[in-house]
Amino acid sequence: MSTERLKPLGPNEISGNAKNLYDAVVESPRAQGPGKQILIREDGSLCGPFDAWLRSPGIGIHFERAGMALREDTIMDAAVREVAVLTVARAWNIDFEFQVHAMVAKMQGVPEEAIGQIARGETPRFERDDLQAAHDIARELVLQRRVTDATFAAAQKALGEQATIEVVTHVGFYQMVSGVLTTFDPPDPSVDVPAPHLDTSALPLPIDLYEAASTTRAVRKLRADPVSDDQINRALKMASFAPSGGNRQPWQVIVVRDAAKKAKLGELYAPLWNEYAAAGRMFLKELPEDKAAPTERALQAGDYLSTHLAEIPVICVFVFNPALLHITDGDLDRPSVVGGGSIYPAVQNFLLGCRAEGLGCTLTTLLCHKEDEIRKLLDIPSDWGTAAFVPVGHAVGRGHGPLARRSVENLAFQDQFGTPFAGS
Ligand SMILES: Cc1cc2nc3c(=O)[nH]c(=O)nc-3n(C[C@H](O)[C@H](O)[C@H](O)COP(=O)(O)O)c2cc1C
Repeated sequence: MSTERLKPLGPNEISGNAKNLYDAVVESPRAQGPGKQILIREDGSLCGPFDAWLRSPGIGIHFERAGMALREDTIMDAAVREVAVLTVARAWNIDFEFQVHAMVAKMQGVPEEAIGQIARGETPRFERDDLQAAHDIARELVLQRRVTDATFAAAQKALGEQATIEVVTHVGFYQMVSGVLTTFDPPDPSVDVPAPHLDTSALPLPIDLYEAASTTRAVRKLRADPVSDDQINRALKMASFAPSGGNRQPWQVIVVRDAAKKAKLGELYAPLWNEYAAAGRMFLKELPEDKAAPTERALQAGDYLSTHLAEIPVICVFVFNPALLHITDGDLDRPSVVGGGSIYPAVQNFLLGCRAEGLGCTLTTLLCHKEDEIRKLLDIPSDWGTAAFVPVGHAVGRGHGPLARRSVENLAFQDQFGTPFAGS
């Protein structure tokens, strides 16, 4: 469903260069035959990126020509071209773009099975080396923003130099088109475009590892809007990849969606949070206003979390079995931390998974104080403990973002405690 950020322009609402662009699109080979109804709506307005470009026809006219040149003035095979576009459309989760090009791809002989695999975010295995090369180069470009030596060599061999250049350029062109479609979200064509539909919750847009790690902050203001099981499932898959002592994975997760159970968790959380926040605010009184402001903002977000816990769509409760922990620091005269090391990496991976899904989340532990009551509430066996409670939902505001953390210079030592790390 479109959000109609731009009201589509009919042919009678445009003139000059915009009309020239409109005519060029309507008369172009792409708008002949079955493509016509998909490109031009019943009211005469244009689908795809063209309606947006009518508003800046000076650039639109060149992109229309560039799109045609990529089709007509290249040596790359039409099936190769379509595999590259499908891969871009999949990565951007753009249903319309995927469906249209799936249609063309089928006509050009791309196997239906491979189209379905791309739709599901899987890696297809093509019999034709040139299709494989087009897919692999496109996928690496859009997901990793680089092309490995092996993929480049395979593309050179299967496609040759000129077609490799054309595929890469084509991928870039459709990245730009995808950006226009994602931003302006034009309405669908008047006719149904045949399946396969993309399951747009099937694969999130890729996020760079450094970007994810450096922006996964505590997001405490979360909306009540639903979060799909697919999304939670993928974030939990990330959790499952975490290391643990002896690879025992001594944890389980309870995905709490039940309204009454979330309400009870909220009831138990509120007094614990209020006490914590009151102590925090006492401490803030000693600080100058500018130093206190960020913490006060975090406390206010915490107040929000505490009063809205019941409405947040999901609370993931990480529980653990102490009998499975190999606690190598348990006999020392200090609080033990090693046991938790087999649980919290999974929690952090889960947070990163939520980040990749575009979902807000926060690691919370205050409810561990109420472990006995929570055991009863969630039927947790008596020999299991609670480790973390992670509310997950769509953020009220900007959500994840830059972190305030100590620099490596202040965190790392070289060879002995106290000597600054030479590399920082
Ligand atoms: C072990 C642990 C326990 C935490 N418990 C809570 C909690 O109970 N409630 C809460 O709102 N935040 C909790 N947090 C989140 C921290 O307050 C947060 O990570 C920290 O203030 C840094 O904030 P930022 O990630 O937004 O920069 C916890 C974090 C950790 C690592």
